[in-house]
Amino acid sequence: MKPLIVANWKMNPQSLTEAKQLFNSLKKGIKNVKNVEVVICPPFLYLSQLQTTNYKPHLGAQDVFWEEKGAFTGEISPKMLKDSGCKYVIIGHSERRRYLKETDEMINKKLKVTLKRKLSPILCIGETRKERGQGKTQTILKNQLKKALSKISAFNIQNSKLAIAYEPVWAIGTGKACSPREAKKSLDVIKKVISKIYDKKLAKTIKILYGGSVNGKNAASYIFEANFQGLLVGGASLDPREFVILVKAVSRS
Ligand code: 13P
Repeated sequence: MKPLIVANWKMNPQSLTEAKQLFNSLKKGIKNVKNVEVVICPPFLYLSQLQTTNYKPHLGAQDVFWEEKGAFTGEISPKMLKDSGCKYVIIGHSERRRYLKETDEMINKKLKVTLKRKLSPILCIGETRKERGQGKTQTILKNQLKKALSKISAFNIQNSKLAIAYEPVWAIGTGKACSPREAKKSLDVIKKVISKIYDKKLAKTIKILYGGSVNGKNAASYIFEANFQGLLVGGASLDPREFVILVKAVSRS
């Protein structure tokens, strides 16, 4: 399975000029990289301004609304994303769960419309520091997955290529990445839950990504030691040099 590396720029950079510069440096750096699929998720405003060549890289959004059109001030529909050249969309990021009070039910609705419109969702799940301390990681992951995937058919998942990102909240932006060994335990739980909701065959086709303080040095270990099929990268994706090193490390291994 081709590893999927997703760059989540979050609310950066602050101008279109900088966004174009960053995007073009990344594009140039990964031009000859093989065997890795790279997705860049800039803020909505920059999407239609960034030109990809032969989907290298792909474009993705950081969020989407669950309705298709109408009176929903400030929201962005799946069709608008497709029209701006997006193939992927991040759903349920922990920062949205935390700052915008996104619930599992909202995430479920967003997943449904995204799959219906044939965008590929990257569903984010993960436990907080407190939950980890209380030994609740497995339960949290199970609950988040079950609720997010409620009443979604195997057919829709396969058709639109759902990916799941395991992002322990305590590892995001802290420089303290989850060790590949610990992350592998969560990966196994995720696979098990998917096999239970659907079946083993489907579980094998879903890419599971790791995210949380990934950098050029530790990237390859999640793919090669822990068997993740991709990475969701925040901070390191804003530094073209670091990000290109990271992508190359995964493509080599
Ligand atoms: P960092 O790579 O900055 O820890 O962010 C991870 C993340 O939240 C990606 O979605």
